[in-house]
Amino acid sequence: MAKPTGNPARRRLVSGNWKMHHDHLQSIRTVQDLGLRLSAADVASIDVSVHPTFTSLRSVQTVIEDRVIPVALGAQHCSHEDQGAFTGEVAPPMLARLGVSFVIVGHSERRQFFGQTDEVVAATLRAVIRHGMTPIVCVGETEEEREDGETEARLTSQTTAALKGLPAEQVAGLVIAYEPIWAIGTGRTATAEDAESACAHIRGVVGEVAGAEAGQAVRIQYGGSVRPENAAELLGQPDVDGALVGGASLDAATFAAIVQAAGAGVPPGR
Ligand code: PGA
Repeated sequence: MAKPTGNPARRRLVSGNWKMHHDHLQSIRTVQDLGLRLSAADVASIDVSVHPTFTSLRSVQTVIEDRVIPVALGAQHCSHEDQGAFTGEVAPPMLARLGVSFVIVGHSERRQFFGQTDEVVAATLRAVIRHGMTPIVCVGETEEEREDGETEARLTSQTTAALKGLPAEQVAGLVIAYEPIWAIGTGRTATAEDAESACAHIRGVVGEVAGAEAGQAVRIQYGGSVRPENAAELLGQPDVDGALVGGASLDAATFAAIVQAAGAGVPPGR
């Protein structure tokens, strides 16, 4: 297994993005099952979050609190406005009131299917921070961009657009997810080398935008067909600080195996 050599101050974060799956009853069962499978030792040196749909958030919050399940509550999206006439949207303070800790911002599916622009992503992540939650800001290239050798340019422009002008200490506290679009839900995973090279590039861009200290502190996840079999190698890369897991997070046993693989690679004291 690859040895983690990353910054020990960056605690790994493994997040389960349930997307538009699991109604509230299935969500309750899944998080209860996860609670039975995760031991205190599994989460001693890493953070874990689950991101159910809006209709499941309240139920999952109650189960996590009642059973003291060691996972943080996350959301998949929110508005960049605090309130108002925006039919169908959910406001950041509503999520904060539910005990949500992490909010995914700018997932490629939001960008692609719901027209979320770089400007809206930047406004949304600021709204999330303003309400005391941590954004997980997604960036990543399409297959065409990768073939054209434009991966780094794409990552630079998305990361810069999202973070420019944000105070360094806020940048240091957020999470970025590198998600190559061609690897999402396809079963194709980036090689550990490609994931490392992209995450190291993003870290460099963060350093340029917000200063070297923020670049070193920011946590960067890899996402795209993460499974129990490839998690340890991907997370063993020095600039990969966690995983954003879609399909493989829907089943508690599979997601717990990924969490355990992620935690197993962390040396004592990290
Ligand atoms: P996947 O999704 O693990 O199903 O590829 C990842 C994501 O979109 O966050």
